[in-house]
Order: sequence, then structure tokens, then C-alpha cells
Amino acid sequence: MRIRKKFLPFSRPSIGKSEISAVVKCLKSGWITTGPLCKAFEDEFCRLTGSSHAVSLSSATAGMHLALLALGIGKGDEVITPSMTFASTLNVITLVGARPVFVDVDYNTLNINPDVIEERMTKKTKAIIPVHFAGAPADMDRIRLLAKKHQLTVIEDAAHAVGTYYKGKHAGGFGGMAIFSFHPIKNITTGEGGMITHSDNRMESRLRLLRFHGIERDAWKRYGKGGNPEYDIQVPGFKYNLTDMQAALGLAQLSRVDAMNRRRGELAALYMQGLEETTGLELPGIPDYPHVHSWHLFIVKVLSMDREAFMKRLSEYNIGYGLHFPAGHRLTYLRKMRGLMKPTLKETDRSADRILSLPLYPGMKNNDVHYVCDAVKEILRHG
Ligand SMILES: Cc1ncc(COP(=O)(O)O)c(C=O)c1O
Repeated sequence: MRIRKKFLPFSRPSIGKSEISAVVKCLKSGWITTGPLCKAFEDEFCRLTGSSHAVSLSSATAGMHLALLALGIGKGDEVITPSMTFASTLNVITLVGARPVFVDVDYNTLNINPDVIEERMTKKTKAIIPVHFAGAPADMDRIRLLAKKHQLTVIEDAAHAVGTYYKGKHAGGFGGMAIFSFHPIKNITTGEGGMITHSDNRMESRLRLLRFHGIERDAWKRYGKGGNPEYDIQVPGFKYNLTDMQAALGLAQLSRVDAMNRRRGELAALYMQGLEETTGLELPGIPDYPHVHSWHLFIVKVLSMDREAFMKRLSEYNIGYGLHFPAGHRLTYLRKMRGLMKPTLKETDRSADRILSLPLYPGMKNNDVHYVCDAVKEILRHG
């Protein structure tokens, strides 16, 4: 086959006229940091997820950090998480002084396996953090049942899950806490950004204080007409707020998310067709419960070739790729952590050396997918 001249990236944000004019309008408005557009973006997120509260943030990592702190999780506590997750979750668990406790995943979907969660619980366990991996929802009914039985909080890692539904409910709509990411490769972007959704009135003020230095009123309220610029701080906080410039972008993206995710779904279906029964390759597993997949990522498993050699060949075909994720329990600092439970993570290990994310973003053409499928098959056939 003929090698394309132009590099096909692994991901590319879908930014159209509506996004550009919304950001320009904000730039011209005289107010560009946290203000009415962040509030409107938060309101839209409540509507989308069915949560009563949404707090906009500078990243999902910031959201996970604040969620742990607001729940009072810290030294001596344990948090159950898959090892197959992004390192940011493991970092913030560690940075608040708690310990991650790893649970294996389902090999096919890469989602946390509810069958093995309970055996990892101890008296120190405070929360469970399932990831809606690649946009396929984790089995929330089973996870929530376990959490209820042991009085734990579920923090959904919904970084991949704008547009993910589980049995008719959007990710983040289950009464616990959820964090969303708006990093540029995500289903909607604000450049960088994140959101926590939850439905706990007491948690709301704690999260907002921690988000902005510990100050009760953000700059919009202090500097607006009749605002009081004085403040007191009872608990120190962070600088984790989103800006109105970013919220303008986020609102425009959110109004197009259904169409963008539909396109992701079409492209994923084309991949499924194009790579069906390809020797030496496994396609993404689909959960067997009712759901809507957001198709954030299209993750294959390379069986018949060394993954590094496969990636090298893909770049020779001018095709980008991603790796979601290097397994957490193999990261050096976690391998060295004293007293960390080291269970066998058979399915995580089995998938960790094989997984690879192929290009997937709404602006891709059908022909781009055909090209990747042909290249993958040619590489696997000839090495
Ligand atoms: C599963 C998962 N969780 C959390 C994050 C962190 O998101 P952010 O980059 O917005 O902090 C990511 C980002 O890639 C992710 O993929």
C-alpha cells in the first residue's frame, strides 16, 4: 500500500467557528477569569449528569485531589483503584498521604472487575475509584452495592466519559462524586480543564473553598459591582479554578458533544468492521450491560508482534498512536512503596504489554480509518 504523506495524529481537538466566536466574545467582554460562563458551564454539567452540583476546575487531576481532600482522605487511609488508570489518580492518592490499593480489571473492557473489589477492602478503605475506561462505563450497580455495604464513597473517574451512559444514566449521575477531564484529547475540551459533579450540599462549600485559596467568594463576586473585596481564610486552599475563556470553549463544545460522539461511534464501527478477524490483533471489548459508549479511545491489543516494534512500524506509515495506560503498579515509585499491597493483577499484566490506542477523533475521515486498518493488517502480516 502507498504510505500517506501527511501524518495522521492520534487525536486532534474539534474546534469550529462556534468555539472561536464564543472565546473571542469572552475576550472582548472585559471578564476572562472565573465568572458567569463558568457558572453556566457548571449548570450545563448538572443538567447533563443529573447531579445537583458541578464545580469547574483547572483539570480532572485537580478534581481528584479536591475530592480526596473534601472527603477527608489522608494519612493511613486506603483507596481502591484499578492499576490500569492514569497516573494522576495514583499520584494524588499518594500525595494526600493515603495508599492506592490495586484491583484487577476485566481483560476485554479494561474496566475494574467488581468480583475482586471486596477482597481488597480493609478497615482503612475509604473510597473506590472506578474508571469508565475509554468511554465504556464501569459496572456501577455492582460497584455502588459494594460501596453501600461497606460505607465507602465512589469517586467515578469520568475523564473519558462525557457522553457515557450506564443503564440510561450519564456518568456522574449516581449520587457519589465524579471527575471529568477537558484535556485536548478528551471528548470535549477547554484546552485544559475539569469538573467535579456530586449531589452533597455539605461537600459543595468545601470543594469551592479548596478550589480557590480557601476564600469564600471568587474574584467575580469580590470585584463585581457592590462586591466586598475583603476576605478571611479558615482553611487554606489551592488555585484550581477554571477561567471564563475556557468555559466559553467548553460550553460551545458541549453543545456539539452529541454530534461529535456520534461521529466517534461511526469511526469506531468502521474500525471494528475493518479489523474484524485480523490475525494477531484483539478489538476493544464491549460491556454486556445496557450502555452508551462515548468512544473516547479505540484500544486494540497487539498479540502477534512486540508492541514497540508495532508502534515503530505505525510511525513509518505516518500514523500516530497512544498508550492508555502504562500499568500503575509497574511505576517505579509505586513498586518501591513500602507496605503497598502487591496482589497479582493477572489481567492487568496480560493487557498492559499489548494495548495500543489507534487514532480516533471527530475530524477523522472514513478513509483515514480505512488507511489505518490496511496499515495494521499489512504490518501484522509482514512485521
Ligand atoms: C482516566 C483519566 N483520569 C484522569 C485524567 C486526568 O485528567 P486531566 O489531564 O484533566 O488532569 C486523565 C487524563 O488523561 C485520564 O485519562
